[in-house]
Amino acid sequence: MRIANDHVAVITGGASGIGHGLAEVLAARGVRVVISDVREEGLAKARASLAEAGAEVTAVVADVADEASVRTLADRTMTAYGRVDLVCNNAGVVSPAAPLWEQTSRTWELMIGVKVLGVVHGVRAFAPLLIERGAGHFLNTASSGGLAPLPDRTPYTTTMHAVVGLTETLDEELKRVAPTLGATVLCPGLVDTPLGRNSEALGAIRLPPGTPASMRSMADNRGGILSPREVAEAALDAVEAGRVHVAPGGGVVERARARVAALLADIEGGDA
Ligand SMILES: NC(=O)c1ccc[n+]([C@@H]2O[C@H](COP(=O)([O-])OP(=O)(O)OC[C@H]3O[C@@H](n4cnc5c(N)ncnc54)[C@H](O)[C@@H]3O)[C@@H](O)[C@H]2O)c1
Repeated sequence: MRIANDHVAVITGGASGIGHGLAEVLAARGVRVVISDVREEGLAKARASLAEAGAEVTAVVADVADEASVRTLADRTMTAYGRVDLVCNNAGVVSPAAPLWEQTSRTWELMIGVKVLGVVHGVRAFAPLLIERGAGHFLNTASSGGLAPLPDRTPYTTTMHAVVGLTETLDEELKRVAPTLGATVLCPGLVDTPLGRNSEALGAIRLPPGTPASMRSMADNRGGILSPREVAEAALDAVEAGRVHVAPGGGVVERARARVAALLADIEGGDA
């Protein structure tokens, strides 16, 4: 899908990090943006900073884990602009660091609610609008943890793998309706955002005292870190190129290649 300056984009988790980066890059291309987030105060600040930079921006408080809330977001988008072209299902939190047998059912419910059902609610609310216009695209944020194992984060990795599989299948389903519809999954490595701090504010994790606000402190042992804008640029290039996957970040391609090679070696060996 070519992104044009009469387009409208909706971004969940738009108050911070990658979502905010997507809003900045899209607005700079003249796209009208609807940013949405569950954190009302953060959303108001993000709206003000985007508007100050010249963006045409609407802010809607919504919880992606709540289907009715996401339907209201779709209604508000149509009331404000009468169309929608790009839907970025991006909101997310991270799970506590622990092996699977120590992860609580509350963590699983939260991660499945936000990351899996959050994307499902976004697709269910917006797909009929894209289909009716005969064009449009979903950009679903997963993670490099959706392409390869990430020990001590199973609720995160599991839900991110789900978003990868969901998006690959969604793209085929949309293409069956019209070749001008599609979906892309974003699987970045480390991105310099306050994901940990926001996840703590939303009750998803408890950070040890003194933990730095950004993800930068984890960068040394994970192959570097990208800015939200770099990730947004890579994601939107992939949307425009009609690619189903995009995985920016140091070491991500290598980890994905190793996982696919191991998978094929196992199943081919199993057949022999
Ligand atoms: N930062 C990284 O290193 C990294 C790497 C790979 C993938 N991701 C994924 O990218 C996405 C965006 O994360 P980020 O790093 O920009 O973090 P962030 O905390 O800066 O942004 C996430 C936003 O989502 C919002 N949010 C959380 N739960 C919500 C809900 N139920 N409803 C609506 N909004 C909600 C938060 O309030 C926050 O503003 C997440 O899904 C995350 O898992 C992040």
